[in-house]
Amino acid sequence: MLSNKVGKQLGHPTYSLTGWLVTKFLKWHNQILEENAVKLSNIQPNDTVLELGHGPGLGLQEASRLLVGPRGKLLGVDYSQYMHQMASKRMEEQISRGKAVLYHSDLVTMPIEENTVDKVFHCNCYYFWPDLKAGAKAIHRVMKPGGIIVTTLRLDSLKKAASMGVLTGDKWRPEIYMEALECSGFTDVRMENKREKLIKFQAIFANAVK
Ligand SMILES: C[S@@+](CC[C@H](N)C(=O)[O-])C[C@H]1O[C@@H](n2cnc3c(N)ncnc32)[C@H](O)[C@@H]1O
Repeated sequence: MLSNKVGKQLGHPTYSLTGWLVTKFLKWHNQILEENAVKLSNIQPNDTVLELGHGPGLGLQEASRLLVGPRGKLLGVDYSQYMHQMASKRMEEQISRGKAVLYHSDLVTMPIEENTVDKVFHCNCYYFWPDLKAGAKAIHRVMKPGGIIVTTLRLDSLKKAASMGVLTGDKWRPEIYMEALECSGFTDVRMENKREKLIKFQAIFANAVK
């Protein structure tokens, strides 16, 4: 019952006590994943970069520091109104300068033009998408040919969450997500083990081919 409630809030945080607690947890537990997803995306000053399921916005903030060229642009998509508002507050200055645009939207229907994004990254997100292939297809649509997508996760935590019933089904398994990417026009899909300080995590990389 409690694990089910926590699982629902992780997938779609709402204005509630559990939503607030889950958000505190996200900031504390996932900062390393957000920072490393940005590092591994090899962001260039004039890139257009998209974060999916940005949650509180730590990764957006990190990415915006690198987009210092005149054409550098940051996009974010999250379907939780709570997270959209929290991240919009964090990114207020960049939004007001036109350097960042955040969409309150499901990623499958994100209002982003096709072939416009150089780098996409997301952390702790894909296991909440109802349909992994539809999600991967939607990402592929907005990416430029040769664009890179980076996904970071902590496999140990996912296994634990699945065993406790916080995550249900099999979608958290990286190989299922990687297969969805391969079926949607991505190549060179691979997972690497990484470590920062004492924390082990994984990064999945793929290239958009068109
Ligand atoms: C577990 S949280 C992770 C937040 C942040 N990336 C982090 O690691 O702290 C998952 C986030 O993805 C968002 N999300 C899940 N499925 C989504 C979808 N289909 N479209 C847009 N956002 C989605 C949720 O609203 C939530 O903010």
